[in-house]
Amino acid sequence: MSRTDEEPKIIPRHIAIIMDGNGRWAKERGLPRTEGHRVGADSVRAVVEECSQLGVEFLTLYAFSSENWKRPKREVTALMSLLERFLKTKTPEMMEQNVRLQAIGRLHDLPPSCQDQLHRSIATTSQNTGLTLILALSYGAREEIIDGVKSLLDSVEKGHLDKAMIDNDIFAKHLYTRYYPDPDLLIRTSGELRISNFLLWQISYTEFYVTEKLWPDFRKAELRDAVHEYGRRQRRFGGV
Ligand code: FPP
Repeated sequence: MSRTDEEPKIIPRHIAIIMDGNGRWAKERGLPRTEGHRVGADSVRAVVEECSQLGVEFLTLYAFSSENWKRPKREVTALMSLLERFLKTKTPEMMEQNVRLQAIGRLHDLPPSCQDQLHRSIATTSQNTGLTLILALSYGAREEIIDGVKSLLDSVEKGHLDKAMIDNDIFAKHLYTRYYPDPDLLIRTSGELRISNFLLWQISYTEFYVTEKLWPDFRKAELRDAVHEYGRRQRRFGGV
């Protein structure tokens, strides 16, 4: 892959990332899978910092899917405690970097101590005006759409909404992502060509970038490569 030191000129407003390959990264080194997640959390830190630096406005990270609950209990517990510790130790850094934390998903499924820390970090950073970091936790796009349909039906039943008025914009207002623009760029690490139940509604027009790099190896330079590639694609379309 070509690498350029030039500053990217075209910056996606919203980047979404499927962080994949932690398990393979650990396996290649004869380490437990949880070690891959631990080093993966360092990649999260690096990517948040770089997005802030580049002036990206929204960054959505697929940190735990609805399907991830099916993993061995030990791994789920390790991921939850890693998340809780990450939030606790990184909130001061988010404050320094003016990062506002948000979360999407069925957050009530998370262990209570994890929910408490999440809500504390969200409240602490709520007035920050830089990058909005959105963690997708216990998130599944089909579940989000089902929750959105229930919320729409509720509005219709209560007489707040006329069924005939429902269109794309109104539907989008009933999704977890109602406060954010759709992603401009979706990155998936570790080479898999799948969406894995991530933001199905929101990625209708999103540019897709897949890299063979495993998530623990995806750092600032790799994020820049993806942003450069996004800029090249945008320019090509602009010229047509
Ligand atoms: C996918 O790798 C990764 C996850 C299921 C979890 C992502 C979590 C982190 C990056 C660390 C913690 C996150 C935060 C926000 C602090 P995989 O286990 O599916 O890898 P594999 O496909 O190689 O098995």
